Amino acid sequence: MLVGSRVRLRALEVGDYALLHRWLNDANVMQFWGRPGNTQSLAEITGDEERNAKRGNSRKYIIETLEQNEAIGQIDYYDLDLVSRNCWTSIMIGNPDYWGGGYGTDAMRVLLRYLFGQLDVHRVVLTTHETNVRAQRSYAKNGFVQEGVLRDWMFFDGAYQAGIIMSVLDEDFRRTEEQSTSSR
Ligand SMILES: CC(C)(COP(=O)(O)OP(=O)(O)OC[C@H]1O[C@@H](n2cnc3c(N)ncnc32)[C@H](O)[C@@H]1OP(=O)(O)O)[C@@H](O)C(=O)NCCC(=O)NCCS
Repeated sequence: MLVGSRVRLRALEVGDYALLHRWLNDANVMQFWGRPGNTQSLAEITGDEERNAKRGNSRKYIIETLEQNEAIGQIDYYDLDLVSRNCWTSIMIGNPDYWGGGYGTDAMRVLLRYLFGQLDVHRVVLTTHETNVRAQRSYAKNGFVQEGVLRDWMFFDGAYQAGIIMSVLDEDFRRTEEQSTSSR
């Protein structure tokens, strides 16, 4: 269990697949996930998660609120390379009621503490839609910086949309941790 100030990250269990099924079929959530019109069966989700678990270089967690113990989203790291000391990450608060409430930023902070502090990763990278300003703002609060623009990254509701690639190094993250400690 990885614990922050608003959320904890716990292991994804088979019993959570129904929740993933709900989130991955919610049009409102999927527009930010880059999958407009996404439909995915429970069987497909189960197959994906079983394959991911077998790979051994990724891990998905359920994000739970500390106040209500409510499962509100998922976060993962994947393509972990301990020789090059980097990995990718993604996050989804699947319950829109919790958007903009600081939960996503706290969940990412907790995951980064683990990746940098325990697994000794040096660089963590992600991609997001150029229009997903809330996500970019949240990532920046944990030290992510924009590295580049992926032109016509995704075909999205009839038009191409650019992607933003962002990364955080261990020293960037440490700086944000020091700033938040000194401003308390
Ligand atoms: C992206 C996501 C993880 C961020 O988590 P969150 O809990 O909503 O974000 P937080 O509240 O921690 O931080 C969001 C920041 O953006 C700001 N913000 C909120 N809504 C915004 C909006 N519509 N436009 C711009 N900024 C916004 C907030 O004010 C906050 O900044 P501040 O603390 O400086 O005021 C979450 O919104 C989410 O999962 N959304 C749907 C799926 C998604 O977009 N996943 C990421 C794909 S790359």
